Amino acid sequence: DKDGHRHFMAKEIHEQPEVIAHTLSRYLDPASETMRLPEGAFDFARLDRLTVSACGTAYYAGLISKYWFETWAGLPVEIDIASELRYRDVPYTEGGGALFVSQSGETADTLAALREARARGQKIAAVVNVPESSIAREADVIFPMAAGPEIGVASTKAFTCQLAALACIAVAAGRARGRLDAEAERALVRALLETPRLVAEALAGAGEIEAIAREIAEARDVLYVGRGVNFPLALEGALKLKEISYIHAEGYAAGELKHGPIALIDKDVPVIVVAPRDALYEKTISNMHEVMARGGKALLISDREGIAEAGDGLWRAIETPTVHPLLAPVVYAAPIQLLAYYTATAKGTDVDQPRNLAKSVTVE
Ligand code: M6R
Repeated sequence: DKDGHRHFMAKEIHEQPEVIAHTLSRYLDPASETMRLPEGAFDFARLDRLTVSACGTAYYAGLISKYWFETWAGLPVEIDIASELRYRDVPYTEGGGALFVSQSGETADTLAALREARARGQKIAAVVNVPESSIAREADVIFPMAAGPEIGVASTKAFTCQLAALACIAVAAGRARGRLDAEAERALVRALLETPRLVAEALAGAGEIEAIAREIAEARDVLYVGRGVNFPLALEGALKLKEISYIHAEGYAAGELKHGPIALIDKDVPVIVVAPRDALYEKTISNMHEVMARGGKALLISDREGIAEAGDGLWRAIETPTVHPLLAPVVYAAPIQLLAYYTATAKGTDVDQPRNLAKSVTVE
């Protein structure tokens, strides 16, 4: 039942504050402001490398977690999409750990990559939503995500719950490896606990986003750009838009624009710039100005300060609440998903069942 929404996707987008909070509650103790991992999780203090793999949106969640494992835990992360990882000659290290991310727990390539990593002596963990799935059964450790059933083919709440779980795991890893002290852990726990409220705030902007989406629906091509943790979110934005609206979209690291994609820019190409007011903001904004100088239509997604500082000439802006810089993808996912959703509804596509796609891809 769609709970009064037109589509499951809309229902699932709006459920996010609640299910992110549920997911966080599986990992963190609000009273002591500390993180705890399930029994038998990796011995992060000793791990020399973590291999992360997944497909589609789950892969983008994994890619965001690479930044977290590096920054908070100083842990080297090898990451690849499962359909590549499984056929690569990966130089796995003895006693290494491998982490797979999957909503359904049935994605054929992810399962095959898991089996390959196991055969190569890796300890296997999975961030998985369906507890009775194949991936959950075959993993040594399950890191839960409490998204509840996700019906829409486009992954939304599973993505942000994957992020919530992965952030908790990375913080716990940082603590175990001595990279984060107790105070740093507490600060991150507090920042994570704020995310459900911030996502709710971001979702409250749905009306304005719908109006912008009606204009995006006219475009033939759309570019998404971001830097750092927001680069994988740009990739996720493009995936979401193309899978449900059938508009061609590409995500790029903002710094890559001038290495090719900027040739696509003209007055008809919206460029969606994900740029919270963080340490990389100025660099991203200067890339946005390069786009604007070539007649491109820039849509900036940022906080109030970020929008104010961007200057004149923006085509459109979406204001997002201020959030811990490394946790921005959890909150910025909301406008990214709403843009795709309303663009698709403006075009009249079958949002919950887009053409050619299955919810769970059990073929290789
Ligand atoms: O069930 P999984 O998380 O393993 O699925 C992975 C991808 O098939 C999935 O995220 C897909 O990319 C979604 N349709 C994206 O919205």
